[in-house]
Amino acid sequence: MTSECSSRGLTNPAPGEFDFDDWRALQPIFDAAKLAGIFVVLRPGPYINAETTAGGLALWSTSLVEGDVRSNSTTWNAAYQPYASQIIELAKPNQVTEGGPMLLLQIDNEYSQTPIAHAEYFADLEEQYRSNGIVVPLTYNDPGEKQQFVNGTGAPDLYGLDYYPNHFNCTNGSMWNAVPTEFHQYHLDTGPDRPFYMPEFQGGSHDYWGGPGYERCRARIGPDFEDVFYKNNWASNVKMHSVYMFYGGTNWGGIAYPGAYTSYDYSGAIKETRLLWEKHDEMKRQGLFIRSSPSFRKTDWIGDTNSGIPEVSISGRDATKAFATRLRNPDTGTGFTIVRQLDGTSTDKISFTLTVPSSKGSLTVPQHADSITLNGRQSRVILTDYAFGASGSVLYSTASVFFAGTIGARDILFIYGDADQAHEVALAFTGHGTRAQSPRVQYTSTLGAFTAVSVHAQPGSTGLLTLWDSPTQLVLFADPVTVATFWAPALRVPTQDTIPGLETFWQFGTNTTALIGGPYLVRNASLADGGRTLALHGDLNASVPLTVIAPEGVRAVSWNGKQVQVRPAGSGMLEGRLVVSSKIRQVAVPKLQGWKFADSLPEVKDGFDDSAWIVADHTSTNITIPPAFGDGRVLYGCDYGFCENNILWRGHFNATGSETGVNLTINGGTAFAASVWLNGVFLQTVSDISAAGEANALFAFPPSALKPGQDNVLTVLQDHMGNDEGQNQKSDRGIRGFELIGGVGKFSTWKVQGKLGGYTDFPDKVRGLLNEGGLFAERDGWHLPGFPTNASSSANFTSRDLSAGLPSGGAGVGFFLTTVTLDVPQGLDAAFSFEFDGGAQHTGAPYRALLFVNGWKFGKRVANIGPQARFPVPPGILNHHGVNTIGVALWVMEDTAVSPTLELVLEGALEGGVGPIALNNPAWTARVHATSDDSADA
Ligand SMILES: *[C@@H]1O[C@H](CO)[C@@H](O)[C@H](O)[C@H]1NC(C)=O
Ligand SMILES: *[C@@H]1O[C@H](CO)[C@@H](O)[C@H](O)[C@H]1NC(C)=O
Ligand SMILES: *[C@@H]1O[C@H](CO)[C@@H](O)[C@H](O)[C@H]1NC(C)=O
Ligand SMILES: *[C@@H]1O[C@H](CO)[C@@H](O)[C@H](O)[C@H]1NC(C)=O
Ligand SMILES: *[C@@H]1O[C@H](CO)[C@@H](O)[C@H](O)[C@H]1NC(C)=O
Ligand SMILES: *[C@@H]1O[C@H](CO)[C@@H](O)[C@H](O)[C@H]1NC(C)=O
Repeated sequence: MTSECSSRGLTNPAPGEFDFDDWRALQPIFDAAKLAGIFVVLRPGPYINAETTAGGLALWSTSLVEGDVRSNSTTWNAAYQPYASQIIELAKPNQVTEGGPMLLLQIDNEYSQTPIAHAEYFADLEEQYRSNGIVVPLTYNDPGEKQQFVNGTGAPDLYGLDYYPNHFNCTNGSMWNAVPTEFHQYHLDTGPDRPFYMPEFQGGSHDYWGGPGYERCRARIGPDFEDVFYKNNWASNVKMHSVYMFYGGTNWGGIAYPGAYTSYDYSGAIKETRLLWEKHDEMKRQGLFIRSSPSFRKTDWIGDTNSGIPEVSISGRDATKAFATRLRNPDTGTGFTIVRQLDGTSTDKISFTLTVPSSKGSLTVPQHADSITLNGRQSRVILTDYAFGASGSVLYSTASVFFAGTIGARDILFIYGDADQAHEVALAFTGHGTRAQSPRVQYTSTLGAFTAVSVHAQPGSTGLLTLWDSPTQLVLFADPVTVATFWAPALRVPTQDTIPGLETFWQFGTNTTALIGGPYLVRNASLADGGRTLALHGDLNASVPLTVIAPEGVRAVSWNGKQVQVRPAGSGMLEGRLVVSSKIRQVAVPKLQGWKFADSLPEVKDGFDDSAWIVADHTSTNITIPPAFGDGRVLYGCDYGFCENNILWRGHFNATGSETGVNLTINGGTAFAASVWLNGVFLQTVSDISAAGEANALFAFPPSALKPGQDNVLTVLQDHMGNDEGQNQKSDRGIRGFELIGGVGKFSTWKVQGKLGGYTDFPDKVRGLLNEGGLFAERDGWHLPGFPTNASSSANFTSRDLSAGLPSGGAGVGFFLTTVTLDVPQGLDAAFSFEFDGGAQHTGAPYRALLFVNGWKFGKRVANIGPQARFPVPPGILNHHGVNTIGVALWVMEDTAVSPTLELVLEGALEGGVGPIALNNPAWTARVHATSDDSADA
């Protein structure tokens, strides 16, 4: 597991201030990983990227560091070193050397070694970690074969290659880019003395504002992509492989950078909703094979059919269309020949035979079955001289291995292959056993002790075939879908070799497992009752047959604490049925109704008192790009403490009467918008979906709006879409240029207001730095649970449905609030989402909406750009057993009526889950903030 979730921007909100409390804490992640038996690669930054605002940099540092961040400058050192010290103290006790799960620590992310100031920065970071007790290897993540930090100044212990062959645009249907063939050579060029590490390899794709949506990414980067591209990495002798993302989650609040929207589903193996899909099945098939195959951990790369490999040849009908790479374990002689189509992107079906070396001399496989077949976009590992369990011996297999090992006294080999293809395994049977009685299976003695078992093609055939069943050995075959219903959790059964602290880690803590077929998810398993009961914990989405292969002593099975009726089913298996209760169909999905409404843009009204707002009068900035035009004043929000979400500006001028408009350049990042009012009269909204994220426009003044000889106020409401990543983290969000046109008038004062309290003094420490923005409703806390919408509050709430839009029927900002009570039956886990506009990706309606759930900003809907209309919200944020406060800040960007709809939808219900989920949704308390609405009403 690679963890980047508590990035620096959130844990170091202001200079010298650290907050690793609540959801920002690291220890619960380490503890959970330890419980699950998962090693952790910690990637604390200071820069993490991850499509996060400023790549995770502390936002204040973009304003308060002179010159370059991520260099060896004195001011940058002073800005990040206190953070690194905190990380060291939190991480140190969790290193593997201390019985913790932390295996590696990554230095920064995706950078260049030149100029030398970059390299020296890495060297400084490494020195700080090393001299303060971090002993695990330090690593680096190099995007796309740039050969940076391989050696020389700043090079860490372990170099890693980061690679996304299909890039990030899911509009291109099923188009795949070529399968890379140079990786092995690249490893030779960059450190053959070290394991080939891929700290990031494409596990899906992020999507962008106006993008096609994640369903398209799922189609493009699905289980077939994992099958072909990951096995191609194995073929390149990659030994450490981190899939980015396995679970992407949600860019809630202001977490995202401008190139990504709220959902970070990423089309990963686990959906944002937490539901599993077919990509998870493929990860399980590959992961268990690797866990089951110790001989795979140490292999020499022998060659591939491109570069020449005399001892391997391909023949048969489609020989010229196949491609093979051979790896070999030098100690055991085990051969791994990874086959795929020569054009790895081809969707043709091909068949061929393979001649490979083995302990019995050169073998052409299969020997009896029909040829090896590969469907389009499929890859397979052909094994030779493969050992399993205590004494299992496979001469060759053209079927894939799902599981190999020992359960109780028996060696188990569980292989799989598509039903419409033929497969063959040659192995030495042990014990007195029985064979499959199926016309699909044929046995032929071969090469002494070995028996070739041919499984003929039988399209549509599903389920388990027992190929061999003896007291010492069990050999099973299934189709890929059936096989993926099995789980093999590590059972906590310590041995004398167990490393203290790593009791649940496969190999290091335990070698005991069981195979459990059927359930949607097995979370964990243990032996209870002196080894008589296998206690399973997991989730069901439907009733399923249960198949268990457990150590012999196991006579009973429990599921989430309840006994399951099981009976011996031959082959030493236990069979039963896991039944979901009718509760699973009884998750009520209430309507969102009873909305209350109040105006949330008092700032444009006459007499609004901004006296407590910050005067924006800086004449210098550390932000890289200087203002474009104006009078020397710098109007960048972050320079005044406002580095995220909505920001409001008020420019005052004493009009001469001849002003005809104002020329403004507003920068908010890709897909931003800004609306401008003069003395309460709406002028215009600008936006920009390009990478520049900036708009320049002349905002004409209607003559009637101007007040000659008096204070005139120009109000600008802008969206801040996050800071850029890469080279422009010091993003120039704000008003980059301002000039009154037509008169001699000048702006006397500019005032600015973002999130209440800025980064030093924001009130909601639990939800943290990036949750709130500068809308009046947010500053006053209307989004928080328990906010009183009655007369005592600072706004006049009236009943109004969200679909009625704003009462003005034009541009403005209003806040809608309601509550909804959920009553999910106990023992169920439900995945809820909030869906705007019936799920339409974009409707053209000129509105932006922020969705608040119990105070957490969990969605940003942009109806005229899209594509996101559905916003998943997990339990913990959502209270499944009580009242939830739902708020929507509706920003209408044109003088047009809009009619948004919002519904709660159920994505799925599971019986099981993790049990009770703690809530920490602090309620509203009265806020003292920059002006109340009273003056506006005066
Ligand atoms: C620029 O950064 C320096 C410290 O590096 C700081 O002292 C100064 O106040 C910053 N300037 C502005 C305008 O924020
Ligand atoms: C940064 O590194 C360069 C090159 O080694 C060195 O000349 C310079 O003094 C370093 N700067 C600081 C502040 O240490
Ligand atoms: C550093 O690595 C490059 C390959 O990336 C290699 O050409 C060079 O010889 C290496 N230098 C040293 C000093 O190891
Ligand atoms: C994605 O690809 C489509 C089709 O080639 C293209 O029209 C679109 O501009 C691309 N989007 C981005 C952000 O690159
Ligand atoms: C698991 O098996 C491996 C290989 O035989 C052995 O090296 C390791 O010590 C075993 N682990 C435990 C906890 O017994
Ligand atoms: C605006 O300027 C005029 C002319 O100089 C002056 O009389 C008036 O008092 C000014 N108004 C404000 C509000 O400053």
